[in-house]
Amino acid sequence: MSVCSIEDIAENTTAPFWFQLYVMRDRDFINRLIDRAKAAKCSALVLTMDLQILGQRHKDIKNGLSTPPKFTPYSIWQMMQHPLWCARMLGTKRHTFRNIVGHVGRVHDLASLSAWTASQFDPTLNWADVKWIKERFGGPVIVKGVLDADDAQAAIDNGADAIVVSNHGGRQLDGAPSTIRVLPEIVDKVGHKTEVYLDSGIRMGQDVIKALAYGAKATFIGRPMLYGLGAGGEAGVTRVLEIIRKELDTTMALCGERDILNVGLHNIYSNDMPPRNAPKARI
Ligand SMILES: Cc1cc2nc3c(=O)[nH]c(=O)nc-3n(C[C@H](O)[C@H](O)[C@H](O)COP(=O)(O)O)c2cc1C
Repeated sequence: MSVCSIEDIAENTTAPFWFQLYVMRDRDFINRLIDRAKAAKCSALVLTMDLQILGQRHKDIKNGLSTPPKFTPYSIWQMMQHPLWCARMLGTKRHTFRNIVGHVGRVHDLASLSAWTASQFDPTLNWADVKWIKERFGGPVIVKGVLDADDAQAAIDNGADAIVVSNHGGRQLDGAPSTIRVLPEIVDKVGHKTEVYLDSGIRMGQDVIKALAYGAKATFIGRPMLYGLGAGGEAGVTRVLEIIRKELDTTMALCGERDILNVGLHNIYSNDMPPRNAPKARI
């Protein structure tokens, strides 16, 4: 779900980029989407496995988030206070979800898009889907949304090339464990066969170093990037990355580490984690 299409991204970057795929009931559409990702030379597909149904998002219910946006007295008041922002938004080229609109017969605008999407998440999603998606795409498939070591194993048995330990930023199952909590058992189970990444809750450089110490190969951010974007546009996103990088650098220095590849379990103090002289994490 994004305002930029796969093709928009391919046109505007020379860097390798990934495409995140939800499996929807309309398999013809999904097949076409995978083919488009392939044609646009996406270097990997990220298959989200934790949104076979939409979670109960209490904040969204409370704040009335909807597509298309509803105009309430409060939102109109906010827009009146930010006329320049509104003018800039109206001047942008992309006002809809361009991977879908124009590619599905029944979807012409935001209202029909919203109804279509809500009816499309596929509760029958299962591990066998990893296999056919990988076959169709023909490149690396990264399975996102894993919180359990046996699930990580199942993903790999069905062809996943890497795993993202994720609880969807806490937006799906309220009460699901934190990703840093489950990372060690997942790395233990599959870290010697595949790359394990982590997201959900990364807010500062220290969070990154903890995940790397427990064996993640990389971490991703969701909301911090959006906060930067909201506050300062493109420069704001760059600033967020700079802040996290600086915090990571400072933390490494204070831990006595000069090379990120040397970060490991010996950097962690914890009562319920392996002892400090345990072998270094596989990073
Ligand atoms: C506004 C918003 C939209 C998101 N959309 C998707 C999505 O379309 N597909 C997906 O796999 N995850 C989606 N996510 C989840 C992120 O990919 C990521 O797992 C999560 O935001 C990481 O947690 P963090 O926000 O705490 O960094 C979304 C998250 C947010 C905040």
